[in-house]
Amino acid sequence: MRKIFFIHGPNLNLLGEREPEIYGHLTLQQVNDQIANFAEKCQIEPIFFQSNHEGQLIDFIHAHRRDAVGLVINPAALTHYSYALRDALAAVNLPTVEVHLSDVHRREAFRQASVMREICLTQISGLGVESYRRGLEVVLGSLGRKELQQFLTETKNVDEAYRACVKILKRDFPKYNWVGIYLVEGNELVVHNYLGAPTPHARIPIGQGICGAAVAEQETIIVPDVNADSRYLACSIETKSEIVVPIQGRRIYGEIDIDSHAPNAFHHYDREMLEGMASDLARFLDAAMN
Ligand code: DQA
Repeated sequence: MRKIFFIHGPNLNLLGEREPEIYGHLTLQQVNDQIANFAEKCQIEPIFFQSNHEGQLIDFIHAHRRDAVGLVINPAALTHYSYALRDALAAVNLPTVEVHLSDVHRREAFRQASVMREICLTQISGLGVESYRRGLEVVLGSLGRKELQQFLTETKNVDEAYRACVKILKRDFPKYNWVGIYLVEGNELVVHNYLGAPTPHARIPIGQGICGAAVAEQETIIVPDVNADSRYLACSIETKSEIVVPIQGRRIYGEIDIDSHAPNAFHHYDREMLEGMASDLARFLDAAMN
């Protein structure tokens, strides 16, 4: 199983009793248990480490740099001033996300600065344990996109390329309950392949439904609550939110369509990752179809 580090900096060992009105009531063990639970659903083995010492954090990152494929770190106060920890993260060059339990941007001025942010994929703060879960999703998105890019250099087969994209997304994101690719055929979208429950909508006229609208409008559509959107073509009562991303190169080839059973499941980083994958596919298709 792929391994990902979850590293906690100084004072996070006292979670649960340390300023609970800011950091919450969960102990570090409980935080780690929740992360482990989520990681398992993503088929990831989490490796946890906490230290109050800058040097020990750096030594751990150096010593284990080849043991994992990505890193989620809450550098705690070191976030704001430790160039040494920043350099260690940059040196090992793993896809890394900086996370915080509290919203550092709504606290003291010194917490707004991060010397890590620039060398991380992103910073996520203010969501409690959810910050770590989203951090893992961003790391997985970065790895998934690289995997697809690598695959596209190894195949010339368009069908295989679509299938690889669907497979990677369904494997890594438990909240993506249905992942499929629709292709433009004349005035219709025709489902190419999908993973999830069988869909009654194998063909959708362009312009109809959220799928049809994304192609007609040539842009990504995120619907946080499908029941509140009159365009939604119901396929499962379990579906609560949806994202549709056009695959657009020299022409619109089709789209990536994802349903979730969770409301409001799609965030800006889902969009960025999926638009990235769609543009990789489009470039591949532009070359393959000429
Ligand atoms: C923290 C925020 C930091 O500013 C602080 O020094 C911490 C915890 C957080 O998770 O909210 O120790 O990283």
